[in-house]
Amino acid sequence: MRNPEHVLLIGGTPKHLRKAAALGLGVVYVQFENEFAPGLRSLAEAVLLTDYTDWRSLRPLVESAYESWGFSAAVSLTEPGLDPAARVNDLLGLGGTPYEVSHRFTDKWLMRRRLAEGPQVGARRVAAELLTVDDDLDRFGAAHGFPFIVKPTSGTASFGVVKVDGADSLGAARQRIRRLHTSTDHPLTGAYDIERFMMEEYVPGPLYSVETFSFDGRHVVLTVTEAITRPRTHVHVGHALPARLSAEDEERMADTARRFLRAMGFRDGPAHTEIILSPQGPVICESQNRVGGALLTDMIEAVYGCDAQSLAISWALGLADPLPGRPVARGAAASWLVVAEEGRVERVEGVERVRAAPDTLTVSLGVAPGDLVRPLEGQWDGLGHISALGPDTDAAIDACRRNLREIRIRTRAA
Ligand SMILES: Nc1ncnc2c1ncn2[C@@H]1O[C@H](COP(=O)(O)OP(=O)(O)OP(=O)(O)O)[C@@H](O)[C@H]1O
Ligand SMILES: [Mg+2]
Repeated sequence: MRNPEHVLLIGGTPKHLRKAAALGLGVVYVQFENEFAPGLRSLAEAVLLTDYTDWRSLRPLVESAYESWGFSAAVSLTEPGLDPAARVNDLLGLGGTPYEVSHRFTDKWLMRRRLAEGPQVGARRVAAELLTVDDDLDRFGAAHGFPFIVKPTSGTASFGVVKVDGADSLGAARQRIRRLHTSTDHPLTGAYDIERFMMEEYVPGPLYSVETFSFDGRHVVLTVTEAITRPRTHVHVGHALPARLSAEDEERMADTARRFLRAMGFRDGPAHTEIILSPQGPVICESQNRVGGALLTDMIEAVYGCDAQSLAISWALGLADPLPGRPVARGAAASWLVVAEEGRVERVEGVERVRAAPDTLTVSLGVAPGDLVRPLEGQWDGLGHISALGPDTDAAIDACRRNLREIRIRTRAA
């Protein structure tokens, strides 16, 4: 039974559910049991609490939910929900991005293999191999040189990304990967499979992302974002849009993203494609078939007037018109990751001041005295994000950094 005004929404934040409900849709909501806030119950027509990354438990639930409520598409706006949503759409013949395509985004090894098979995308291909035995590290270094990157095939938030600088750091890299393999204490690792690691040639250069929305194979660029990355951990601490690029480089990035999406066989919905502007030109880093994190949704909406998450839902249901072309920027926005020294939080200051600042767009920070701050290994070890607006990108970055300095989080060794 198809019910045109109903959606199956998988996982994500309360905001995702609010957006679906605000579209006037009946929402069948799937969430991990420990992430469901009962206060949200009234926003959904039905709630299924399960580990939705486990297809054996999700499948029978969605089959009976489809019988009872019907929905015309499964949508997820969060990384671990993307493959499950694609599987539901495949199973019930609802269209949208098939699992085969979705999985090319969620599995970086499949993405590299797909790129290796088709026409070249960007300035060059990146050599990549799966890490199966310890010796592979030595062999990859010998074959492709140093530095190179080792990362989980399905990671996110830069968790577990290791740069191997030279032959003498192979031992340390091996140890680090072994530790990541066995680490079970990290929050969220349960939602991701960090079992498999891959090796990639290191691509030098600044990182950008191209935010797109695809309408039946027509890839519309919403903006190009520049990332400001911490060199040691590869964690992107800052994001700013529109990126400060020459018109020519901007177009090269946009063109690379469109070619990439075509190569992946991607046709519908949002994507966040990370591209390194190397000395030879744009080189694909990775991509997600969702709107990027770090408050990008809010920033794109504020600057371009397009809420790509709401559009992801309404487009999947056939309820939205495609964008006619690239939206035009009105001003600029920047976001920053809020971090603190490792330890137990004693005091948090300045948050209300920043919330009230005239250039603040969003404060998304849920830290309180008593919380534990982990060492910064990935974006998810950050405590939240703040974002700010400005007349241009320089001004937005300045405003965001100024506001960031106002927030003081004191910790004590735990
Ligand atoms: N081959 C590479 N060459 C150079 N830098 C790389 C390479 N692969 C990854 N990086 C760096 O590590 C970061 C994280 O890697 P990647 O984006 O693949 O993982 P992720 O965990 O999905 O990241 P995130 O969710 O933070 O975007 C990249 O944004 C980039 O800065
Ligand atoms: Mg990335």
